[in-house]
Amino acid sequence: MVQTIGVIGAGQMGNGIAHVCALAAYDVKLVDIDPKRLDDALSQIHQNMGRQIKRGLITEGERTAGLARIETGKDYTLFRDCDVVVEAATENEDVKREILKQLCPNLKPNAIIASNTSSISITRLAASTDRPTKFIGMHFMNPVPVMQLVELIRGLATDEQTYATIRALSEKLGKTTAMAEDFPAFIVNRILLPMINEAVYTLYEGVGSVEAIDTAMKLGANHPMGPLELADFIGLDTCLAVMQVLYEGLADSKYRPCPLLVKYVEAGWLGKKVGRGFYDYSSGTPIPTR
Ligand SMILES: NC(=O)c1ccc[n+]([C@@H]2O[C@H](COP(=O)([O-])OP(=O)(O)OC[C@H]3O[C@@H](n4cnc5c(N)ncnc54)[C@H](O)[C@@H]3O)[C@@H](O)[C@H]2O)c1
Repeated sequence: MVQTIGVIGAGQMGNGIAHVCALAAYDVKLVDIDPKRLDDALSQIHQNMGRQIKRGLITEGERTAGLARIETGKDYTLFRDCDVVVEAATENEDVKREILKQLCPNLKPNAIIASNTSSISITRLAASTDRPTKFIGMHFMNPVPVMQLVELIRGLATDEQTYATIRALSEKLGKTTAMAEDFPAFIVNRILLPMINEAVYTLYEGVGSVEAIDTAMKLGANHPMGPLELADFIGLDTCLAVMQVLYEGLADSKYRPCPLLVKYVEAGWLGKKVGRGFYDYSSGTPIPTR
């Protein structure tokens, strides 16, 4: 039975995962290498739960109880009692491998490790741990408290019990699951990211402005967000990392990351989380930058 859940990485995904786990009455241990990220995550969770209170989804008492279940820290020893640890750190295979190496000696023998990676091979990440049968992809969508889907990805070695436990946990968190095979970027991002990359090419080639591209796709394809707005929301570093995994993993030139996307990442214009991407968020109202 799952009682205590660890989360590695207190960024936009990690804080959302901690949020939904705490509201579902699990004890949560949230770890990040950057202490500021931990403080920011707690205030973000407080604020996001505030939105749920205003919409009548939860009560003030549930927020207080939820926040009290989250313990933060820098040290992996915090995970010693965890039944499941969800890895939600930066989308970089070397970073994730190093985390897994440090994490394993701190876990109970039966603890499951679930990675929230958007694109990296679950089989390969699993092979870098001491428990490939207890390793699985648990891909939450952003923003976690709002989005309904959790994509589950079985690595080659993932055992049935691990899959069943994580599927049941996802359902306890109020989510619906979809099962994907372990191919680069799985289902959602295999389809979504090439569309976003194409939108950046459309901008790069001058076919349309930021505003024209987003308006065209919102009103012409009935998407709730334009692709460039969505790219800013996901984080341009994450978008680029996923395209690189598709490009290298499937060895097909159709996945070539747009050079303009590469430039934005090199400039540190990573989207909403840093205040600038295809839109400038510094004034409160997003202003298109091209
Ligand atoms: N952004 C999205 O829309 C989205 C959606 C689904 C999945 N994901 C995946 O979730 C993961 C996190 O993405 P994010 O958008 O939250 O990124 P983010 O940049 O907001 O957060 C990443 C966090 O990881 C921390 N971190 C880095 N190295 C660490 C280490 N060694 N130990 C502990 N913490 C470390 C960073 O300090 C940062 O707080 C990635 O694998 C990403 O692909 C992202």
